[in-house]
Amino acid sequence: MLGAWGGWQVLRRCSSLPQAQRAVRLRVREALGAREPADEVKVQGWVRSVRSQKEVLFLHINDGSSLENLQVVADPSLENRDLTFGSAVEVQGKLVKSPHRMQNVELKAKTIRVVGPCDTWLFPLKTKERHPLEYVRQFPHLRCRNNALGSLLRIRSEATAAIHSFFQDNGYVHIHTPIITSNDCEGAGELFRIETSNEARESAEKTHFFSVPAFLTVSGQLHLEVMAGAFTHVFTFGPTFRAENSQSRRHLAEFYMVEAELSFTESLQDIMQVMEDLFKTTASTVLSKCPRDVELFHKYIAPTQKTKDRLEQMLKNKFVTISYNEAVEILKQASQTFTFKPEWGCDLQTEHEKYLVKHCGEVPVFVINYPYDLKPFYMRDNEDGPQHTVAAVDLLVPGIGELCGGSLREERLPFLESRLQRLGLTDAYQWYLDLRKFGSVPHGGFGMGFERYLQCILGVDNIKDVIPFPRFSHSCLL
Ligand code: 4AD
Ligand code: MG
Repeated sequence: MLGAWGGWQVLRRCSSLPQAQRAVRLRVREALGAREPADEVKVQGWVRSVRSQKEVLFLHINDGSSLENLQVVADPSLENRDLTFGSAVEVQGKLVKSPHRMQNVELKAKTIRVVGPCDTWLFPLKTKERHPLEYVRQFPHLRCRNNALGSLLRIRSEATAAIHSFFQDNGYVHIHTPIITSNDCEGAGELFRIETSNEARESAEKTHFFSVPAFLTVSGQLHLEVMAGAFTHVFTFGPTFRAENSQSRRHLAEFYMVEAELSFTESLQDIMQVMEDLFKTTASTVLSKCPRDVELFHKYIAPTQKTKDRLEQMLKNKFVTISYNEAVEILKQASQTFTFKPEWGCDLQTEHEKYLVKHCGEVPVFVINYPYDLKPFYMRDNEDGPQHTVAAVDLLVPGIGELCGGSLREERLPFLESRLQRLGLTDAYQWYLDLRKFGSVPHGGFGMGFERYLQCILGVDNIKDVIPFPRFSHSCLL
């Protein structure tokens, strides 16, 4: 997207063109950022409001390039019955300095063409109404025309770019890990199985499309580990699928995960530092690239007004680290009664995670060294006792609970072999064992849920409000 400077350059460019070619198409954001008037410009977008007065017609136009609309001022003779809220229009005219304090420029229309009319009676969004997120969630195909969702989608786009830049700037190689795979990285059995539409109808004895059962990926980690055998720093950022509770405010069946893998690292601290830097750098970039969009969430959408201050604190302070043992002790001593009684050896529930974050002062908390039996086969054995742990780390954040999960990986062949054998997975993971035979190095990595990250920095309660298309029920797979 072009900023104010970009917009001004566009105008300079067009003023040197011959007269006949002068109408230059500007995006709303470019027009709003223009520093000089321009004679012949063309703006295309959707009408956000129409106000007809005796001597002047005002329109507000939005094209998704910014939260702010462009004001169009026209002679009432240009009004027509199709020019309504929601209609698609193309306006040509002069960009002039606005006499109003609230905006820098406005477009004095010479022509207004309605490209696509909108039946305002049937259109579920209404002019000037601030629709609640629950309301617009019912219209997955139309809600991007709503201010809040427009802001969210711009933020999502900037955050995606910021995450890629963070890794590229730090020397990571981006890897496209497969979406269709035969491995269940997390071993949690939350897999969607893939079959062709014919297979579903045919008997089970018939051969499958793939010679082995195939699933949608639950994590790109194992494939990243392959690449970490040749590149010291790799990352992936793609769609991830889990057959999990779809009614939750923190779980999706399809979500995006950012994953990184670092070779030649023996310290969980190195992994945690990358998580913290990624969190802070991405948030700072988003705040500076789309301040108005973020402001809309912090002011009007977040359930509490605290989100903005909380984010500032998160960005300013160092994240806290506690061990799983310490976490269980804190929970056992809590005056709060939990639905799930905290016990060493049990997984931390969301209620526990939220309590720990509050206990530590509403800042992100790394919990490290989880029980060996709780975690997947690939995590590195700490060889401690009597409470046996692995070098795992979860990052817990205010309002959400778990945002990232990571670990050092078991790079020692005998340890990995015996663990896979106990789980009966040796055959399936021969290729993974190979990685430990040919130049194995200490390594580790993590995964961060992108939607939970957006929820955290924006203060959004329901994860379905930070995705482009809400799948609010299984019957609505747009
Ligand atoms: O903790 P998880 O399961 O970790 C892994 O999959 C590792 N293999 C990643 C790695 O080390 N490369 O998932 C990572 C994060 C979670 O902390 C959570 O933020 C998010 O992914 N996540 C989900 N987000 C939305 N909906 C779901 N169903 C999610 N499941 C996990
Ligand atoms: Mg996890």
